[in-house]
Parts: sequence; structure tokens; C-alpha cells
Amino acid sequence: MKYMDDPEGATPFTLDERDGLKHKHVTTRGELDHLEQANVANGMRWMRRSRKKDLLTERYVRELHRQLFGEVWKWAGNFRNTEKNIGIDPREIGVELRLLLDNARYWIEHKTYSPKEIAIRFHHRLVFIHPFPNGNGRHARVMADAILMKIFDQPPIDWAGGHELQAIGPRRSEYISALRAADQEDYSPLFTFAGLKREE
Ligand SMILES: Nc1ncnc2c1ncn2[C@@H]1O[C@H](COP(=O)(O)OP(=O)(O)O)[C@@H](O)[C@H]1O
Ligand SMILES: [Mg+2]
Repeated sequence: MKYMDDPEGATPFTLDERDGLKHKHVTTRGELDHLEQANVANGMRWMRRSRKKDLLTERYVRELHRQLFGEVWKWAGNFRNTEKNIGIDPREIGVELRLLLDNARYWIEHKTYSPKEIAIRFHHRLVFIHPFPNGNGRHARVMADAILMKIFDQPPIDWAGGHELQAIGPRRSEYISALRAADQEDYSPLFTFAGLKREE
């Protein structure tokens, strides 16, 4: 189970979840990363084609996860039912996601925050809920970008900033510590990380 030694802030799999791997020959983290990357690229193409009016629904959130990870994991698009070191009680996922989607619709309608701030806050809240057994970070980054691109007609966030965000390194550490600050309601490190300017 070599591929279980994940980078900082990654969610370890349970044995059951590992069973959901569609490619039984995969034994290393590198092989798994490779398969997931190809799948994620296809899922992002799907996102670009999808309709704006469907976006802020549970159905879309789950379908996007399935599009990003469904070629690799059988459980893609289904909420987790196990406790993780990150994320809320699995029984609360449906309710909390519903609240987040309602909040986001309200923020958009009432221009509570700027488009980019809405996308960043949405991203943090979604990874905080941690709806899925894995892929939450990547899925929630694509979700935030979908909000910016499809609802606001704005460019996506430069999450990686020229680095490889999935790999261990300074960019990843900055990202994870910014999320931890946001967990404590200090959003400014995450705003800086995501390139939100003061006047935005
Ligand atoms: N303290 C935290 N608060 C909120 N989100 C976090 C925290 N630590 C990690 N995360 C998020 O969880 C993600 C890891 O979860 P995981 O399901 O493994 O996603 P992925 O497989 O896409 O990396 C990180 O990329 C990050 O987005
Ligand atoms: Mg992971």
C-alpha cells in the first residue's frame, strides 16, 4: 500500500475505499497519480462544457466529482460514509452542502463578496465539509473555478502558481496552512494564496 503515504493534508483511504480502485494493477502512488491526472483533465473539459444554471446543485457537485475521478474510483460522485481526519461527520454532508450552496447563491445574488472572494470562500467551505472519500481538494478547486468562469465570466484561480500543488513542497504547505487559518475564520492567508487583491 505504498500509495497511501500521501502528501501533507491529504486524506488517507480506508481499505473499503481502496477496494473501489478500478485498476487493480496499481501499486504505487506514482501510478495512481498518473491515472487520476488523466481523469481530472477529462473532467475539467466536461466542466468547461457544462451549463451555468446547473452549477450550484448537489447533483452538479456530485456529477463533477464523478467526471473528475470516475475512471479511477468506483465510489466517485458518492459521498463518503466514514469519518476522516479532515471534514465533518459524514451524516451531516448532505445538509451542510445544501447550506453552502444556498449561501453561495445568496452571496452571488446580493453581491455580498466579490466574485473571486465568493469562489475562495466556497472552496474552503467545500474542502472543510470534505464530501468525498478522496479528491476533495482537486474537486473543490475545479468547483471554485467553475463558479468564476461560468457564473462570472472571469478567469480561474491560479492555484498552483507555477508549482505542482498535489506534490509535497512550499506551495502545498502554504495552501494547507492557509486552509487551516480559514478553518479558524482567518481568511486572509487563503485570499493572499489565491491572489485576491485588496481592491477586489
Ligand atoms: N485543515 C484543512 N481544512 C480544510 N481543508 C483542508 C485542510 N487540510 C487539507 N484540506 C483540503 O483537503 C484536501 C485533501 O483531501 P483529498 O480528499 O485527499 O483531496 P485530493 O485527493 O484532491 O488532494 C487538500 O488538498 C485541501 O484542499
Ligand atoms: Mg487525496
